[in-house]
Amino acid sequence: MKKLVVLTGAGISAESGIGTFRDAGGLWEKYKIDDVATPDAWRKNPALVLDFYNQRRKQLFTVEPNEGHFTLAELEKDFEVQIITQNVDNLHERSGSTDILHLHGELMKVRSTSPREEVFKLTADSYETHLGDKCPKGFQLRPHIVWFGEAVPDIEDAIRITQQADIFLIIGTSLNVYPAASLINYVKPGIPVYLIDPNEIGHLPKNVTVIQKGAGEGMKELVKSLLAK
Ligand code: OAD
Repeated sequence: MKKLVVLTGAGISAESGIGTFRDAGGLWEKYKIDDVATPDAWRKNPALVLDFYNQRRKQLFTVEPNEGHFTLAELEKDFEVQIITQNVDNLHERSGSTDILHLHGELMKVRSTSPREEVFKLTADSYETHLGDKCPKGFQLRPHIVWFGEAVPDIEDAIRITQQADIFLIIGTSLNVYPAASLINYVKPGIPVYLIDPNEIGHLPKNVTVIQKGAGEGMKELVKSLLAK
């Protein structure tokens, strides 16, 4: 089976009702990155940061995976699919995809602020974190999210996976955030690269086939063309 490596961003969850970050009306218009998504924000006002992520988690229970997620999961019948997602939601998992690397962390996990940074899973019954919620060793719990200004621990793995791709697919990311956006540069020469996004993405290498549609419709079109080959 050919290896299909997929880089996803907020756009694949847009049709599920989770707003993107940088489109008009996106999350970063409502909140300042510096207030909720940096180590500095955490130092200055941890309660606000925890509340921001509690709200993001709450929203997860009100949304469902969409056709884009489901079509990607179905492709596992025909391809070895490896997803590298910048998303912190769990919609890829809930749609049935089995191989998912969360480059920027996961909403439904928290981690200890101890030097060992142990990770804990949250549950639907108890998904909020507040100041004073501590790990068994007594350290405050923080969101398991890669904030701006923090290293991306899984980027080496993501690069290795990208280098192994027989087909590379990008869905719903503005390719503004590094190092995730640089993954496209690690695709082997001659490998087909597809990009699905309803808006125009600038500065793309010449070899990229763009499907300028939303994730659901775009995935249907892509599947037709992949399976025809
Ligand atoms: P952005 O909000 O920057 O980009 C979303 C992309 O989705 C844009 O290119 C939109 O055109 C596209 N889009 C909108 N609707 C779509 C649809 N129906 N189908 C497909 N695509 C659609 O989000 P990301 O690129 O994912 O980091 O942002 C990267 C990172 O920046 C995020 O992981 C997050 C954020 O700050 C952290 O939280 C650490």
